[in-house]
Amino acid sequence: MGRIRLLDDNTINKIAAGEVIERPASVVKELLENSLDAGATDVRVRVGGAGKERIEVSDDGHGMDVEDIELAFKQHATSKLSKIEDLDVLGTLGFRGEALSSIASVAEVEVSTKDKKAGIGISLKIKGGNILQKKEVGRETGTTIVVNGLFADIPARLKYLKSDRVEMSHIIQVVTERALAYPKVAFQLHNEDVEVLKYARAPNLIDRMTDVFGRRVTKEMVLFYETDKGVKVEGCLAKPALTKSTTQDLHIFVNNRPVASKEITAAIEEGYAGLLMRNRHPVGAIFIDIVRKWIDVNVHPTKREIKFAEIKPLAKLVRKAVAEALGNVDIIPESRPVHDDAVPVTAAHVGAKKKPKKAAASSAAQTQIIEDEPPVDITEEGMLPRMKVIGQILDTYILAQSGSDLVIIDQHAAHERVMLEKLKRSEDKGAKAAQNLITPVPLAVNKREGQLIEHYRHIIEDMGFKIEPFGKDTFLVRAVPVTAGHLESESGLMDLINELAELGKARSIEEKRDDIRHLIACHSAVRAGERLSMNQMRRLIEEMHGIDSPYTCAHGRPTIIRITEKELEKLFKRVV
Ligand SMILES: Nc1ncnc2c1ncn2[C@@H]1O[C@H](COP(=O)(O)OP(=O)(O)OP(=O)(O)O)[C@@H](O)[C@H]1O
Ligand SMILES: [Mg+2]
Repeated sequence: MGRIRLLDDNTINKIAAGEVIERPASVVKELLENSLDAGATDVRVRVGGAGKERIEVSDDGHGMDVEDIELAFKQHATSKLSKIEDLDVLGTLGFRGEALSSIASVAEVEVSTKDKKAGIGISLKIKGGNILQKKEVGRETGTTIVVNGLFADIPARLKYLKSDRVEMSHIIQVVTERALAYPKVAFQLHNEDVEVLKYARAPNLIDRMTDVFGRRVTKEMVLFYETDKGVKVEGCLAKPALTKSTTQDLHIFVNNRPVASKEITAAIEEGYAGLLMRNRHPVGAIFIDIVRKWIDVNVHPTKREIKFAEIKPLAKLVRKAVAEALGNVDIIPESRPVHDDAVPVTAAHVGAKKKPKKAAASSAAQTQIIEDEPPVDITEEGMLPRMKVIGQILDTYILAQSGSDLVIIDQHAAHERVMLEKLKRSEDKGAKAAQNLITPVPLAVNKREGQLIEHYRHIIEDMGFKIEPFGKDTFLVRAVPVTAGHLESESGLMDLINELAELGKARSIEEKRDDIRHLIACHSAVRAGERLSMNQMRRLIEEMHGIDSPYTCAHGRPTIIRITEKELEKLFKRVV
């Protein structure tokens, strides 16, 4: 007796409809979720051509019987829901009865399965909704689904697929998210014959986190747990020293479903209360367990979005959980050894003193006027006018006086421009602008990051990096470009590597080089939100005098604005 039923029209009309298969990773997501719903304890994903040619997912779940196998590919056929009210008590990831029929309409699908109660297995080949073959097979309990030639007959969809690397990184993300949500299930991912991910069954979340994020990151994580009527919030987050420039490594789960939620992300970041630098994001995972009828998962066909009946109390609980956890630990970043020829951040060639350690919790709204030193004249020949540094505001802008004008410099934009020009100059000279690190920096990377390093290694090595594989999941950085600055630290390097993932769109190798040069300049530059000494500010201005176009940053934004005496007088209504 099969499990699957066709939904009635009333229920069908209430289910968020729409296309769920956009790319290979969407297929992997749907098949993985079906395996998990079938109670699998071991799920293996094998793709060919980053999923564009072939995707195979096999599991040891409860399988399907002869009655179910054909029904499974019909629209609105599901074993997980019979009426819309069931959504309030839904315990599965799937409920629409749409995924398999959508996949079979855009690819050729082969399924082989054996129900745990059946004596023999059954296999089916289906394409465009038509059954091509059905036969009995001998196999273990469980299901294997193979999807061949995704979008092969739909050129319009095919052309929106990105490079293998980009598609593969989406697949890795999908598997990683499910692996975090189901620590007790073993996962494997292979591309062609290369093992990309392998997670053994883990007894608890921490062990799985260690597999996913690496020991270095997990060691720096704090645990949190809070409950309130009908809601449980728990998880692990890295201390502020290990933040990232994207939210890619912040995973949010609601009732074990990975979701994107601006509100929850904001609540987590508020929990860090001023400990996060601007544009930095936490690393970790948060699991929210909430009474099912307080959420609506039926908002979007991919189920990536969720509507909460009441977001405010939930956000408050998340904020509290995170803040309390972080308040209980030592959040000052560990100091790391500085090599002898360290190049200070704002003055690569003038031999400044070592960069002072950043204050861990500098308030963003603070104004820093340094009074212990009088403003100093900087006299230069170049295109920039003479400037007298007055101080820094918001840890982001340098205030200076030029003649009778007030000058405001965006410290990051200005320094990025300086770094970019230096990098270009040393490349023009043909010399690799490399400086060897006395203490090489080991980078513990995850699979996605490792792939990015391998992919771009030849380009970034041309720009002065020396990177080599160093054991499992680790690379050793032996040299960095002379402009290095922030890139001398592990976290600066990891940020750069993570942003390489966003370069997929650049077409030619020259464009890629250009993009990478910009990324290196950006990541080596002093950041917004970083407090600078008077000397550092003066040297930055000195360096701006030495370059050709100091007035705009690499992206064309202004680095300097000027308020004239006249404008000030007008503002204060001294003149009209
Ligand atoms: N790996 C599997 N093991 C056992 N049964 C499966 C498996 N994959 C699919 N099925 C059965 O096929 C049905 C249809 O799957 P499909 O993914 O199309 O819909 P769904 O999971 O019910 O809902 P959704 O469209 O939201 O994913 C499921 O309800 C389930 O009964
Ligand atoms: Mg499904």
